[in-house]
Amino acid sequence: MKILVINGPNLNMLGIREKEIYGEKSYAELCAFIEAACAAEGAACTIFQSNHEGAIVDRIQQAYGKEDAIVINAGAYTHTSVAILDALRAVALPAVEVHLSRLADREDFRQRSYISLACEKTIDGMGFEGYREAIRYLTRERKAK
Ligand code: DQA
Repeated sequence: MKILVINGPNLNMLGIREKEIYGEKSYAELCAFIEAACAAEGAACTIFQSNHEGAIVDRIQQAYGKEDAIVINAGAYTHTSVAILDALRAVALPAVEVHLSRLADREDFRQRSYISLACEKTIDGMGFEGYREAIRYLTRERKAK
């Protein structure tokens, strides 16, 4: 299985940004964690990070016919982007939404996720572990269904 992992705006600032919310670990450490989690499940993975909405839309479109599933943490675009929602619907690949923080404990504007409308599952509040859960869901649970 080929999994595309997409990380949206400001996730490249992990380890620097709001450490009390997102933790001390860097984006490079997150990428290493995701790669190890995919390898443990025998899945191939490509990780893509962008701070630009259109670049994320382009990358989702490129996955069509080439990748088997998507894990997406769209960052702040989660709460604003109909374009990313439409791109996920367009390619219709199984997708799981991940957030490092627990959105229910945060501001009102973070309570709406457009991305979740195109995702089979949302995992939040688990830090890096959420990505492993998403990868396991796609490689094990979903396959077994
Ligand atoms: C986030 C939550 C979003 O609300 C925020 O804009 C982010 C990160 C998370 O991983 O917890 O940038 O997606």
